[in-house]
Amino acid sequence: MDVEYNFSNKVVLITGGTGALGSTLVKKFIDSGAITISSFVNDEGAKRLKTANHKVELIKLDITKEEQILKTIPILVQKFGTIDILVNLVGGYLGGIPTMELGEIDWTTMMDLNLKSAFLISKYVIPIMKSGKGGNIVHISSRTGLKSEGYDSAYAASKAGLIRFVEATSQELKGDNINVNCILPTIIDTEANRRAMPDADFKKWLSKEDLANVILFLCSSASKVINGAAIPTYGTF
Ligand SMILES: NC(=O)c1ccc[n+]([C@@H]2O[C@H](COP(=O)([O-])OP(=O)(O)OC[C@H]3O[C@@H](n4cnc5c(N)ncnc54)[C@H](OP(=O)(O)O)[C@@H]3O)[C@@H](O)[C@H]2O)c1
Repeated sequence: MDVEYNFSNKVVLITGGTGALGSTLVKKFIDSGAITISSFVNDEGAKRLKTANHKVELIKLDITKEEQILKTIPILVQKFGTIDILVNLVGGYLGGIPTMELGEIDWTTMMDLNLKSAFLISKYVIPIMKSGKGGNIVHISSRTGLKSEGYDSAYAASKAGLIRFVEATSQELKGDNINVNCILPTIIDTEANRRAMPDADFKKWLSKEDLANVILFLCSSASKVINGAAIPTYGTF
C-alpha cells in the first residue's frame, strides 16, 4: 500500500518532469497537494504532460544554460512565493561505446546533462531555500555512478560526479534545514528502454511508481535525518 504524503502549499520544482519518471512523479506530487512546476525543453512533451495533469505549471528552461536559469528562477519565485522542493530528473544515457571511440562532444554532452545541470539548478535554487524555511533537494544518479561495467565512461563518470556533488552540497547546507540526497536507479521500466531492449525481462526493471515513492519520501519530513545520501534503488538486480 502506498504511504500518503501531504505536500499542501509546498512549491515543488521538478526539472525534467516531462520525462518518463517525471510524469509519474508530477502526478504523485499533484495528488499530494503540492504546487507542482515542471520544466521542459521540448514543446511536445510539455503538451503531453499538461494533458495528463491539468494542474501542472510548466516553464520552458534548459538547465544546462546558466543565463536561462538566472532569468527563470526569479520569475518562479515572484509567481509562487518560494521553492520548497527541487527534484532534478534531468539526465541522459550514452553507452555501448569504448572510451577510445568516444567523441569529445559525447563526453561534454554527458557532463552537461548529468552533472553541470545539477550544479547550475542548485546554485540558483539553494539561495531561495536558504532565505525561506529550508527545503529538500533530490537528484537522480545511477548505480553506474558507483560501479561501471564498461563502455559507458562518460555516463558513469558524470553520474559518479553527481554523487560527490550531492555529498559536498549536503555538507555545506547542514545547518540550513536543507537536505540534499540522490538515488541510484538501475534500469527503469520506461517505453524508451522497452524499445531499446525488446528482449529483456521487463519484470526485473524498476517501476516508475516505486522510484517516485522513494523520491516523495526523501522530500517529506519523514526523511529529515537523511542528508548527503546516495540511496541504492536496485530493485531485483
Ligand atoms: N531510464 C533509466 O533506466 C534510468 C536509469 C538510471 C538513472 N536514470 C536517470 O533518471 C533520470 C530520469 O530518467 P528518465 O528515463 O525519466 O529520463 P527521460 O525520459 O529521458 O527524461 C529526461 C527529461 O530531462 C529533460 N531534459 C533533457 N535535457 C534537458 C535540459 N538541457 N534542460 C532541462 N531539461 C532537460 C527532458 O525534457 P524534454 O522532454 O523537454 O526534452 C525530460 O523531461 C535521469 O537523470 C536519468 O539519467 C534513468
